[in-house]
Amino acid sequence: MISLKNASQIAKMREAGKILREVEDEVRLAVKPGVTTAELDVLAERLIRKHHAIPTSLHYEGYPCTICASVNDEVVHGIPSDRRVLQEGDILSVDCTLMLDGWQADSAFTVGVGEITPEAQKLIDVTEECFWLGVKQCLVGNRLGDVGHAIEAHARANGFSAVREFTGHGIGREMHEDPAVYNYGDPGRGLRLRAGMTLAVEPMICQKDWHLSVDEDGWCARTVDHGLCAHYEHTVAVREDGYPEILTLPGFTWEAGV
Ligand code: MF3
Ligand code: CO
Ligand code: CO
Repeated sequence: MISLKNASQIAKMREAGKILREVEDEVRLAVKPGVTTAELDVLAERLIRKHHAIPTSLHYEGYPCTICASVNDEVVHGIPSDRRVLQEGDILSVDCTLMLDGWQADSAFTVGVGEITPEAQKLIDVTEECFWLGVKQCLVGNRLGDVGHAIEAHARANGFSAVREFTGHGIGREMHEDPAVYNYGDPGRGLRLRAGMTLAVEPMICQKDWHLSVDEDGWCARTVDHGLCAHYEHTVAVREDGYPEILTLPGFTWEAGV
């Protein structure tokens, strides 16, 4: 079931999104060679609780941490570890969710650790571009296939591939609500978007093939061919009056540009 949110509910999600942005910006600044992913997890949890929010990935279906920290060929759900020391040249995806006053926010980014190869940087940049091309399709009357198609077409045009085994999703009181927001699709097909839908749009883009396998820990998904993967996610609200609001990017306006 898809739940539409009214203005006051979206205002609460905006507050949650603002805190998540602050948390993730701090985590991003802490990323450097020699840091462990467990240290980043501790930092994120401390900042979330300081803002009187609740880390909602922690204990979600048994997930043990506040953030997902996925390195290089790890696509999503990398479990932070004090044995995972970030190395110069790695790429790291950080995905975090929190809840404030009963409302969820969800956002992810990928960042290079120290100097990275131009090809790795291109993957990160294209993934972010895929997000923006997808989110620009989140217009009242458009369909989810328009969103997915925009994402996958840009990935392919750059020689990359879009993950199919995980998707974006509706979000609100629950972290994962209907509908699934696929990172591929056919223009003009799929669910019609309506004002008040709140969606996590989250392209996961692979350097090579998108097929994944899950580690023995039951969580960490990585590319079968060990190509790199990048992830970029925001929580967005579909609006009556034009482009969507990016709830996890406070202050962003379309007029000012991306
Ligand atoms: N943040 C993830 C998403 O984008 C979900 C986290 S799964 C968890 O949907 F197990 F880590 F909570
Ligand atoms: Co997420
Ligand atoms: Co999500």
